[in-house]
Amino acid sequence: MARRVAGFGTTVFVEINNLARQHGAVNLGQGAPDFDGPPEVLQAAVNAVNGALNQYAPGIGMATVREAIARHAERFYGQKLNPETDVLVTSGATEGVFAAILGLTDPGDEAIVFEPIYDTYVPNMLMAGVTPRHVPLRGESWSFDPDELARAFNRRTRIIIVNTPHNPTGKVFSRDELRVIAELCQKHDVLAITDEVYEHILYDDASHTRLATLPGMAERTLTISSLGKTFSVTGWKVGWAVGPAALVNAANQAHQFITYAVASPLQAAAATALNLPFSFFENLQANYQAKRDRMVGVLEGVGFKVFKPSGSYFIMIDWRGRAPAKVQEDFQFAQWLTTEVGVACIPASPFYQESDKQLGKYFARFAVCKKDETLAAAAERLSRLR
Ligand SMILES: Cc1ncc(COP(=O)(O)O)c(C=O)c1O
Repeated sequence: MARRVAGFGTTVFVEINNLARQHGAVNLGQGAPDFDGPPEVLQAAVNAVNGALNQYAPGIGMATVREAIARHAERFYGQKLNPETDVLVTSGATEGVFAAILGLTDPGDEAIVFEPIYDTYVPNMLMAGVTPRHVPLRGESWSFDPDELARAFNRRTRIIIVNTPHNPTGKVFSRDELRVIAELCQKHDVLAITDEVYEHILYDDASHTRLATLPGMAERTLTISSLGKTFSVTGWKVGWAVGPAALVNAANQAHQFITYAVASPLQAAAATALNLPFSFFENLQANYQAKRDRMVGVLEGVGFKVFKPSGSYFIMIDWRGRAPAKVQEDFQFAQWLTTEVGVACIPASPFYQESDKQLGKYFARFAVCKKDETLAAAAERLSRLR
């Protein structure tokens, strides 16, 4: 095995999924719905397969899909994009982020990330020869210290990755926080890559601000998102990167030799999905709001300290004082909850770099993107802890 990948290990998700399966636990671990996406979107994929849309799509994406992505950006954020030059269709947001890192950094560059962190960014950076610099999010609202962020910038910094709404905390970066980030990017001539896959999953009165729409940021931000979360089709792996032509082109330089082109019938269905009326997006939010409220109630009812999320699929808890004495850290907590209570969750320390693991030691993440009966089964098992 090459040194490049030898240190990666298996992801915590594989480990917890296996444990959940072995013990018949209700799995609130992985962030994938256990229900299907809108029938008209599924049907559009079927129609595309039956309608002979089964050969390679253009590498940058089918024209109808690039147009739909551009229209969506204008409809929700007033962002004006040229579908010919400013949109790249990728194999999920995952590939979009990797292609962006490969296309926009050189070995030896530095990249700033917030932690806890979604698990693909750092391995992506290491494969690209880029050094990550982690800035912790702390406290009730998972805020960053602006001075600490400023200190992370230096002459080697090339990019910052901003994930909002945020996995695993459910934080939605405020406009003021994004302004701080935007000013530092401009001051240090740094590019921003944003991961906005949860852009439509927002709670209470939270609103999602696209960093690219702040003054001075359109020309230096590549915005990445995907179909998976918004349309409950995480297995489709259709995503996109949008922004100024120069940045999109740089990401495409990498993309053309990673995946080349994304599955044609699923792209065709993406156009149907992105063109759905506002009512679809409103219903999605209402459904998720009910799921979040229910699970916040259940977890608080058991006595966990709950970090109420403003967006995303996830709820983070601090379980201290609500687990048996033998449970001393997050992996033990997840193991105990999965095997003895019958509900699987994800320990939080894997979302932190080695030297900061203690920051996640008492946290666990629960996913709410599950059918009501799944959440009811989890609630029933958790209620035994009272
Ligand atoms: C923050 C974040 N980005 C990206 C992804 C993956 O997106 P995709 O399936 O479109 O590659 C996930 C999935 O969990 C995620 O949580």
